[in-house]
Amino acid sequence: MAAKRIIFANQKGGVGKTTSVVNLGAYLAQMGKKVLLLDLDSQGNMTSAVSGDSRKPGAYEVIIGKCTAREAYQTTPVKNLYAIGGNINLAGLNVELVNELAREFFLKNALDSVDNEWDYIIADCPPSLGLVTINAMCWAQHVIIPMQCEYFAMEGLNLLMRTIGNVKKQLNPHLEVLGIVFTMYTTRTRLANDVVDDVSTYFSEQVFNTRIPRNVRLSEAPSHGLPINVYDASSAGAKSYESLAEEVLKRV
Ligand SMILES: Nc1ncnc2c1ncn2[C@@H]1O[C@H](COP(=O)(O)OP(=O)(O)OP(=O)(O)O)[C@@H](O)[C@H]1O
Ligand SMILES: [Mg+2]
Repeated sequence: MAAKRIIFANQKGGVGKTTSVVNLGAYLAQMGKKVLLLDLDSQGNMTSAVSGDSRKPGAYEVIIGKCTAREAYQTTPVKNLYAIGGNINLAGLNVELVNELAREFFLKNALDSVDNEWDYIIADCPPSLGLVTINAMCWAQHVIIPMQCEYFAMEGLNLLMRTIGNVKKQLNPHLEVLGIVFTMYTTRTRLANDVVDDVSTYFSEQVFNTRIPRNVRLSEAPSHGLPINVYDASSAGAKSYESLAEEVLKRV
């Protein structure tokens, strides 16, 4: 059976991509799925959030063919959850691949051979629409867009949707938006509710019912190298990612 291939993408920085990849992945693993996380961001935040080692060969080495995906797997504090790390070398990929033929398909070509070993492969994209993100879109089936409920949230969403549409038309017909998930949500502010209303009007059924609340335990967990189901399973943040995982299982 082929893996479900999901990416979290939003070129806006700090909207909860990495937090969502780690904790969605952790809950899917806890529910018995075999899950591989892939850190495509040169910041390596996802890698450290699951106690990974950014110095080991990771996504960069896999993409350029210096090692195989199988050689790059690292274990994590969660059973069934594995990770391929990210490091600063990824920042140079745009330039390194610029003269290569089919440069959009390096990631897909590198991962196709391990597809059958996983139930889910979930990738964390960098905050840009550069070649690394395009490689992720050429490989994936599903895009989840995390959105922070703040004033400029909608800005950039059109460009992201257009980019996904163009990739689908020209490079990867299997690509679909699985949904938009609100992150760092606070019920207290009118602004947050206005953003939710606006986005829900345009993208109605694509919006996940689960909203991820702003929760300090979610921001603490990465510094301990632990997903939220291990760090504090009773927190509101943990409950929300568990519920998102259930929704994702139903949608894919
Ligand atoms: N629901 C939440 N509640 C509280 N803090 C959160 C929540 N989600 C994310 N954070 C914190 O907000 C910051 C940004 O989150 P995160 O790193 O997941 O975003 P990102 O989109 O991956 O950022 P980048 O674009 O830089 O890769 C981090 O410090 C993270 O711990
Ligand atoms: Mg990130």
